[in-house]
Amino acid sequence: MAEGVGVGEAARSRFPIFEHTTYANSCSQGALSVDVRRAYEEYLAGWDEHGAEWEHWVERAEAARGAFAELVGAAPEDVAVTTSVSQAVSALVSALPLERGRNRIVISEFEFPTVGQIAHAQELRGAEVAHVRPEPDGRIPLERFADAIDERTALVCCTAISYRTGYRLDVAEVARLAHERGALCLADSYQAAGAVPLDVAALDVDFLTAGTVKYLLASAGLAFMYVRRGLHERLLPTQTGWFADEDIFRMDISDYSPAADARRFDSGTPPVPNIYAGLAGMRIVEEAGVAAIEGHVRELVELLLAGLDELGATVVTPRAEGGYGPLICIASTQPEELVRALADAQVVTSSRDQSVSPLKGSTQRRRCCS
Ligand SMILES: Cc1ncc(COP(=O)(O)O)c(C=O)c1O
Repeated sequence: MAEGVGVGEAARSRFPIFEHTTYANSCSQGALSVDVRRAYEEYLAGWDEHGAEWEHWVERAEAARGAFAELVGAAPEDVAVTTSVSQAVSALVSALPLERGRNRIVISEFEFPTVGQIAHAQELRGAEVAHVRPEPDGRIPLERFADAIDERTALVCCTAISYRTGYRLDVAEVARLAHERGALCLADSYQAAGAVPLDVAALDVDFLTAGTVKYLLASAGLAFMYVRRGLHERLLPTQTGWFADEDIFRMDISDYSPAADARRFDSGTPPVPNIYAGLAGMRIVEEAGVAAIEGHVRELVELLLAGLDELGATVVTPRAEGGYGPLICIASTQPEELVRALADAQVVTSSRDQSVSPLKGSTQRRRCCS
């Protein structure tokens, strides 16, 4: 990019939709920037001009691996490139032995459907799934995790920021509880990546997933999974593919010899067009700086919360210090109608459960999220 992006006003000109619309829906899909549009055009132009550019395309996939690694404080060898969080988590659980005595998967009630469904699919392999439920105020106290995680637990799945309520969890503490009992910990951080700083060393998680659709400002079809060093060789995914092989160019069909590092959680042909877009989106985030983005988003959230209080709205997202990130959910008895009415006023939001999220949102009496 020629000039720096900055945050707030400095970044607005890169997103044409902001000229006519209040965009409060990054929890669902980040806005399209001129950079991401250009990246797709660059992919098409290269393909058109050179035919297959496989060497370059594979190099772009490695660049994306590196960009995500930098975003979460990891090394590229500790990151898998996948087409979705679902693919990453499926590969991960396929590598868990789930042997008798360690067959329990603990999931928070706030997991994205894909994580819960993949966990329950493991019941076919003998797993037992335990849910950690929130309090009526929308928080999940750590004691709830402590009660659910035991010496039979293989994996604890938590979500950094709930897609359902915007609740921000103390992931580091959940990871500590998991490790105390000999379990591994996955933090699905899709609603956090790009909007709040993520540091895998500080969080001390074993796995961290995110994709590019939301605050990483790109589009569908690209996700990542951090895998802690030391686990790579211990975990053998049975859900795999040729790009996870130790040597993708050997084209050997006589054995299974996965890469020594986190690439063993990759799968088939990388999603090249989405990688171009993802790189452009992540570059915007990198240039603006996640800490600056977080500060700017906090200012916007505080403005929004003050306005909602003035209106007497019911905010579903728990407000305690540290309890929320970029996603705020507002209770509504008619969330779809509210989302439609806001759209008529050029305000993009979406609904979850019974809420609307304007910095993304949804809840039980239905929510509007923003
Ligand atoms: C927390 C969270 N995890 C995962 C996903 C998506 O998973 P996948 O990449 O498998 O579609 C989303 C949103 O789409 C999400 O909000």
